[in-house]
Amino acid sequence: MNAPVDVAARASQLRAELEQHNHSYYVLDNPTIPDAEYDKLFQELQQIEQEFPALIAPDSPTLRVGGKPLPAFSPVRHAVPMLSIRTETDTEPSGARSFDARVRRELALPEGSPEIDYAAELKFDGLAINLRYENGVLRQAATRGDGETGEDVTQNVRTIRSIPLRLRGVAPEVLEIRGEAFMSRADFDRYNERQRASGKAALVNPRNGAAGTIRQLDPALAAQRPLSFFAYGLGEFVGWHQPATHAEVLDALAAFGLPVCEYRTVAGGAGGLIAFHQRIRDLRDQLPFDIDGVVYKVNNLALQNQLGFVTREPRWAVAHKYPAQEMLTTVEAIEVQVGRTGAITPVARLAPVFVGGVTVTNATLHNEDELRRKDVRVGDTVVVRRAGDVIPEVVSVVLAKRPAGSLSFDMPGQCPACGSAIEKPEDEAVARCTGGLFCPAQRKQALLHFASRKAMDIEGLGEKIVDQLVDLAIVKTPVDIYKLGLLGLATMERMAEKSASNLLAAIDKSRSTTLNRFIYALGIRNVGEATAKDLARHFGSLEALIAANQGRLQLVPDVGPIVAASIAHFFAEAHNVEVIEQLRAAGVHWPEGTHEAAAMPLAGRIFVLTGTLPTMSREEAKEKIERLGGKVAGSVSAKTHFVVAGAEAGSKLDKATALGIQVINETQLQEMLANEKS
Ligand code: IVH
Repeated sequence: MNAPVDVAARASQLRAELEQHNHSYYVLDNPTIPDAEYDKLFQELQQIEQEFPALIAPDSPTLRVGGKPLPAFSPVRHAVPMLSIRTETDTEPSGARSFDARVRRELALPEGSPEIDYAAELKFDGLAINLRYENGVLRQAATRGDGETGEDVTQNVRTIRSIPLRLRGVAPEVLEIRGEAFMSRADFDRYNERQRASGKAALVNPRNGAAGTIRQLDPALAAQRPLSFFAYGLGEFVGWHQPATHAEVLDALAAFGLPVCEYRTVAGGAGGLIAFHQRIRDLRDQLPFDIDGVVYKVNNLALQNQLGFVTREPRWAVAHKYPAQEMLTTVEAIEVQVGRTGAITPVARLAPVFVGGVTVTNATLHNEDELRRKDVRVGDTVVVRRAGDVIPEVVSVVLAKRPAGSLSFDMPGQCPACGSAIEKPEDEAVARCTGGLFCPAQRKQALLHFASRKAMDIEGLGEKIVDQLVDLAIVKTPVDIYKLGLLGLATMERMAEKSASNLLAAIDKSRSTTLNRFIYALGIRNVGEATAKDLARHFGSLEALIAANQGRLQLVPDVGPIVAASIAHFFAEAHNVEVIEQLRAAGVHWPEGTHEAAAMPLAGRIFVLTGTLPTMSREEAKEKIERLGGKVAGSVSAKTHFVVAGAEAGSKLDKATALGIQVINETQLQEMLANEKS
């Protein structure tokens, strides 16, 4: 059936509008409408397309959620070969001098002629992708492959939200854009946190995560692993007036709506490149994604042409690496550490190795399951990864180098700090010391966490001092930190009066904080920095968070049943609430947020009802959900948050399971609706 003209027009308007919002959200980082509004438009488009499949355009945002699994990827012959760049492992900033000298020599520039301008950018650590836009519409995405022929990964690349499905402005007939698909550190950590919590295999590093996602045959699975993208160059183009410099090309790509990394500059001569190298080196740990170096490109495209290529590498570009984020070393011992929640973490003591810019002697093995899976043994040669300011980890074992007669590591049955039994619940990945606050290790870790940079940020309250404060029984709970005085502190080992007063000043300063920092500082199991932020944003106040039952907690994006249970258990402990009250009495405070969530707790959440519910009619359920700001949709999509399943639920339930959407029963729904703690 042909769609009426006005429906077709509406569909195209919706596509344009949705992509506009996508761009604001994912490229400009500046959301223009609430999620719920976006969902409404999205569902309207979905419904139109369901009714008139002929209207499904290649630039429809509905394609971003992934289609049918593929049997294999088809080969794609690149119109312009995808070359690589010469990579120099020189990690000194001054390495730029030899590149500049080489370029000047090749161009036969006489001594004393003006310096060359270079476009300096980051070397992203992901997977190179060619995006082909025809008349502005994304038609094909391909991997690099051998440079001549890659693989067609269009379906998976469409799931990358920051990649426009249609270019903005007046688009050329053909425009191929090259860039890197990668996984941000936050997305990587979040994904792995979830995998580990459910005892599943974690991704090795963000690079592998990106490559594995792009090369995933089932696009619905790919859609569950969020990737990002930065454009850094061109492939074929037809009907486009190319600017004169590389920097202007990138500006043009940004104007077309592509994500282009903000950390780039035009650097004058070797001096400019050296300054860029140093600036980025200092920034590297704080970047939200992995880089393995910087890339220098001759900025003027006419000069690039003049320089040309040697074999498969351009003479006009070079990559300069930073110290590697993964290195080999050997395991000297395996020990266990007791965390703030009693979690027993196996730790590898390593032969010192320089990795990610620092010398590393310890690396985490995460938990027993992961230790078993990797089967790390004393004497093994292992790959260690340290990226950003996260704890270094053992990524894998080089089995070929395993010494003969080595033994698998057995987890101890008793806590090394307090001697209490170590228990591991069947359904959990983590073994725990059962000593609770009796265990000095747990207490110390909880205090260190409380004081850490991303929590209350008490500078100077480090391991050595916390050890003494706990061992001397001066500090038992975080409240005691705010009772410390100069005299008491100055008597401690290695504590000069000056550092004692600095510490007191830092403690005092920490009294003024934010809600998300405070929630994170509490050290609730399974509540990391990202979740703490989500909770603060959703609930707006600590009271609302404490009052929320598990159903309500699960309404927070990314909070599933496990995290919700941890939070509810934490606040159900009277002494935890007491400590919070005492902290506030000691002057800890933060600006109160809005209480929107309290009034409309289901805002932005999309439900699908299926099957017969035991007591409620569908109408009744729908009305109650809507009264609290939620939406009830007719069909399941990747945008659905909850499927409420009753008896004889059919294909909707299957689809929810396939898409990994949370399925709840009527009781759980009632809990969300009521917010009464059971
Ligand atoms: S330019 C002809 N710029 O590093 C020059 N590459 O070979 C083409 N990469 O495969 C590459 N960041 O995947 C360029 N800012 C950047 C890059 C970059 C990462 C990757 C790319 C390429 C490899 C080097």
